[in-house]
Amino acid sequence: MNSLVRRTQQLSLWRTYCVKHNAPEAASATRNTGKSNYGEFIGHHQRQARRSIVVQVSSEKSYAELYNYCSRFGSILAAHHYCVRQEEALHYVLLEYATPGEAEAAIGAGVTNGELTGVPVRSPFLWFRAAAAGGGRRSPKLTPSPMPHLVSLDGTRQVEQAHLLELMRSARDIEEQVQLLHEHTRLNELGIRIRFLAALQVQLAIAGMFPAAQAHPFGSSVNGFGRMGCDLDLILRFDNDMGAKSPLEASEPSRLVFHTKENLSNGRSQTQRHMECFGDMLHLFLPGVCHVRRILQARVPIIKYHHEHLDLEVDLSMSNLTGFYMSELLYMFGEMDPRVRPLTFSIRRWAQSCGLTNPSPGRWISNFSLTCLVMFFLQQLRQPILPTIGALAKSAEPGDSRVTEDGISCSFARNVERLGFRSRNQSSMSELLLQFFEFYSQFDFHNRAISLNEGRGLSKPDHSAMYIVNPLEQLLNVSKNVSLEECERLRIEVRNAAWVLESEVENASLPDGEGERRELSWGVLNLFKHPERAVIRPNMFFKPRMVEVSDLFEQKEAGSMSSPNP
Ligand code: GTP
Ligand code: MG
Repeated sequence: MNSLVRRTQQLSLWRTYCVKHNAPEAASATRNTGKSNYGEFIGHHQRQARRSIVVQVSSEKSYAELYNYCSRFGSILAAHHYCVRQEEALHYVLLEYATPGEAEAAIGAGVTNGELTGVPVRSPFLWFRAAAAGGGRRSPKLTPSPMPHLVSLDGTRQVEQAHLLELMRSARDIEEQVQLLHEHTRLNELGIRIRFLAALQVQLAIAGMFPAAQAHPFGSSVNGFGRMGCDLDLILRFDNDMGAKSPLEASEPSRLVFHTKENLSNGRSQTQRHMECFGDMLHLFLPGVCHVRRILQARVPIIKYHHEHLDLEVDLSMSNLTGFYMSELLYMFGEMDPRVRPLTFSIRRWAQSCGLTNPSPGRWISNFSLTCLVMFFLQQLRQPILPTIGALAKSAEPGDSRVTEDGISCSFARNVERLGFRSRNQSSMSELLLQFFEFYSQFDFHNRAISLNEGRGLSKPDHSAMYIVNPLEQLLNVSKNVSLEECERLRIEVRNAAWVLESEVENASLPDGEGERRELSWGVLNLFKHPERAVIRPNMFFKPRMVEVSDLFEQKEAGSMSSPNP
């Protein structure tokens, strides 16, 4: 509760500061403490990225000097320091200006490093060189503003794991453990900021030839289910075709049409060719981009790269619009009820601990499919916590209409408040967690398919071991990759988890010594302890080993495990 009060006070101070410094956009973004709209959330972070730059410094001690220097371009509203650890730590400061023009002025003042031979590229990624002897000419500050406190956050890695373990051990009850796990492992503010800057960098790089191009983050970076260290999924579109059309555009299409190059090949091979070309451009010219890999034969062709200034893995695609809209649906689900995200984080952590999920794709369940299982469970409850996707589609208004270039409808009600869905389910998170494990230990995976569109099981249309109807392309199966063996393992693991959790819930209600508890693993921590069930799979790329609770907290998360291949 104390931390909530502190956070509220911080927010209120921040708003006062922003209003005083004429930055209503930055202030309004924090005003919405209730349910937020996906479009607003994305728009806010895109605008914030346009006001920001990232400057490499020798250490956080350079901040005062950097602040003094960079204030000449405008009012600096916020400053975040982070470190990227290579052989030696590299330090960066992300500065947020009050307006995009001020950030542009700072970028515009950047010069090329005469000692290096790289092609000069303008980007929001800069470094701060030592002052020339004599200190150089001093320019007056344009907008004097008090120096914001430098927030030192790790924007790329998880919180100190021993600390998290200690916090969870000393929680009051399972409810608080689930909350703590969520609070301390989810993507933090800086993690979100750097992901939007990575997207903006790609967009700015091609803006000359493609002024309407947009690079949109999607997946766990923005759907509210992302952990620190998760990868960034990006979709690059050349037309602004992802939002609703303005009434004028819809009623009176322009009579002036751009000449364009004729497409000589089919859509897919053309996309592959374009991606190859963009892969080269990213690799050759974009600062920070390294280890570029082209995976062009996949169902959705992607370019993977590592961003060394952000310590970030990026998957760039051009043709995965349904994935983008799916992220919006997941975001909305997370906003509808405060139990949805903490619950999903605990379930994903449990699945990771017993080796059900794996950083590399394969015959096992993916994080996305597992998240679908959680959403379905919350829909099918006697008192549902989430509405069905069919109900959302039915409530769509004209402004919610979205159709992909392949003619797939992604239209659903986008305003969570207007939807008027209220759950009467009062279950605690520990009860829901237990019900989740019990539900899937009895689910008939053999004969039934899971439909989030209808919120009920359907007869399985084929012999896949696990069938989750793809919510936006209903003829496809999201979990087609899952083998019979892995599906069976899931059933065994959920049964074990139900058994462990049941006794944990019973013990949690017994009065016992607080001191004793702090020493021991208890509650959900015991779900994450599976030394006897560590599984050896033939195709696993890492060496399997016994997993202890403390070990689990040291394992790298999915995004950071897929380290770049040089
Ligand atoms: P992590 O990367 O494991 O943190 O989770 P993620 O949710 O980002 O998963 P992933 O990177 O595999 O996929 C990115 C996004 O693409 C997901 O969040 C979904 O929105 C979408 N997606 C992935 N697989 C499918 C699929 O089979 N169907 C649809 N419609 N969308 C998908
Ligand atoms: Mg992802």
